[in-house]
Amino acid sequence: MIPRLEWDSDDAAHCLRSGLPCVLLNCPLSTTERWTFEHLSSVIVQDFRCDVYCSRNNQRRFRYWDESKNINGYNFTPPTTKTTMTFQEWLSYHQTSHSSDSTEMRYLQQGVVAEMGPQMLDEYKRFSLEAARRFQNIGGWDSFTSNLLLCGAEGAITPVHFDEQENIFAQLSGVKRVRLFPPEAWGRLYPYPLGHPSDRQAQVTLPVVPGSTRLDDEAQREMFPAFESNDDPAIMEMHVDLVPGECLYVPQYWWHQMEAVTDNTSLAWWYLHGQKKPANPSGDKDDLSSIDKRSVSLIAIRRNMERLIGDMVGGGQEAHRFFLALAGGSVPIPPEELGGPNLGVTYLPRYHRFGERNSEGESFPVLALDVAAAASVRASPQWPGVAEQAIKFVSMVIEVRACVSCRRRRHS
Ligand code: OGA
Ligand code: FE
Repeated sequence: MIPRLEWDSDDAAHCLRSGLPCVLLNCPLSTTERWTFEHLSSVIVQDFRCDVYCSRNNQRRFRYWDESKNINGYNFTPPTTKTTMTFQEWLSYHQTSHSSDSTEMRYLQQGVVAEMGPQMLDEYKRFSLEAARRFQNIGGWDSFTSNLLLCGAEGAITPVHFDEQENIFAQLSGVKRVRLFPPEAWGRLYPYPLGHPSDRQAQVTLPVVPGSTRLDDEAQREMFPAFESNDDPAIMEMHVDLVPGECLYVPQYWWHQMEAVTDNTSLAWWYLHGQKKPANPSGDKDDLSSIDKRSVSLIAIRRNMERLIGDMVGGGQEAHRFFLALAGGSVPIPPEELGGPNLGVTYLPRYHRFGERNSEGESFPVLALDVAAAASVRASPQWPGVAEQAIKFVSMVIEVRACVSCRRRRHS
């Protein structure tokens, strides 16, 4: 359950410190103005060009991609096209596309910048920057980085992904449904690998019905069995419908899918997580916050592992081949060899294996946590030394995970 809490309450502060999502009610990062499409169109200058994503093939899904991240050289077809247009052009398309049977949907996603004009800036200044600082202090976060303005038509979907920043997500007009999974749901959601243009995005397409554990697409059911086989209540979906005046705290590494229930405007407030210790007046060292911090470091370790191993084998296509081999292995090894607790071996069926394809005919291994796979690569002369390193990383991850789950048990 995602709690709904007064934005400046102690309970909300507890969530921010602990890295747990919550809805912040009456939050002054959302309430100053109702930024409807029409209103924004009247305050953003007419010659400012906004970033707009256009859907393809009558799709409503806007999966994020960035071709410059394709360091592993994956064969990639962009799921959307990117363009720029004035806000007014975007709005007039939006208004006419309702009444025609146009198949292209356009999603405006623009960082808030001074070039949008003095009127827009005046309105922006009415948000309480004091509140923005309060969240930063309580969460112990580093610098505030940016605001992203999102204007989307009813039905638009930003598919499930995670971000590497803390996000206070303000709902300004219309209704947005947010579907959340904790970072530990990694194994259920099959992220694209680092070095792929859709890094941080899940390969799994969430069922239309929130909370369902059965995938809608037959082919996906076969490719991503771990999504359905989950029986761990700790990695189940939560969801919430946000209305104007509400903000959602979306912690770094939490999976989220955003769905436009109606035409709507949102404004993301992003911060670097940083290394600062959050202010914790209770002084309780063994509360939920330390547990959550560990599962977050688990994701950070995984991503570093992908980067380091990719570098070791020389990056590019070679990294791709190595990761495919790693995820493709199937020889179980005894847990003693890992020098760690007997966990992780059970991970084998959770990961995307060599030769499987997603709905776009692409295949991506989910990396490196597969102990058995690591063993089979170690036996290969192609990448001498690298697999040992991989196994070291894997046992490190297993230790962190063991720690997370035994602390969870103590708390439940
Ligand atoms: C975010 C995000 C997408 C959307 O704010 O992190 O993913 O459609 N937003 O609002
Ligand atoms: Fe996001």
